[in-house]
Amino acid sequence: MEKNHNVSRRQFLTYALLGTGGFMAAGLIMPMVRFGVDPILQADAEEDMIDVVSVDELTDVPQAFDMEYEQDHGWHVEQVQETVWIYLDGDEVVALSPVCTHLGCTVNWGTDPDNPEQFFCPCHFGRFERDGTNIPGTPPTEPLHRYDHEVRDGRVLLGNPSPQV
Ligand code: FES
Repeated sequence: MEKNHNVSRRQFLTYALLGTGGFMAAGLIMPMVRFGVDPILQADAEEDMIDVVSVDELTDVPQAFDMEYEQDHGWHVEQVQETVWIYLDGDEVVALSPVCTHLGCTVNWGTDPDNPEQFFCPCHFGRFERDGTNIPGTPPTEPLHRYDHEVRDGRVLLGNPSPQV
């Protein structure tokens, strides 16, 4: 005996509407789920301090060090490498992000011959003091972000960068 596999117009429209409604509901619900889960992931990230360098290697002149870690996106784990400018201000460790607060280019220390004691951004000639303060009259309008840090057993561990304002 042969079964009838024909789908009526009414059934087809019902399935199509259910499918479309499902996609729309997922589009609305997923951001809410992410909003709820993000603080949990953020809390984990705050606990994960990354070992970057020995305090013995630091001087009062900012030096660039690599910071490597794995970032778990849920569906895949990414190997991330960032550069951080680190120096000693007396006994205090200062770790600054190299990301220019104007439009995100990379700043370097002492590469502007006219201002060798400052960070310099080559994209639009932005400049920052050694502590990351933006120089008035140059494009950046806020200081370089500063990393949370700890010193454990003579090693510098870094957390997340955050604005200095
Ligand atoms: S991106 Fe650095 S000055 Fe514009």
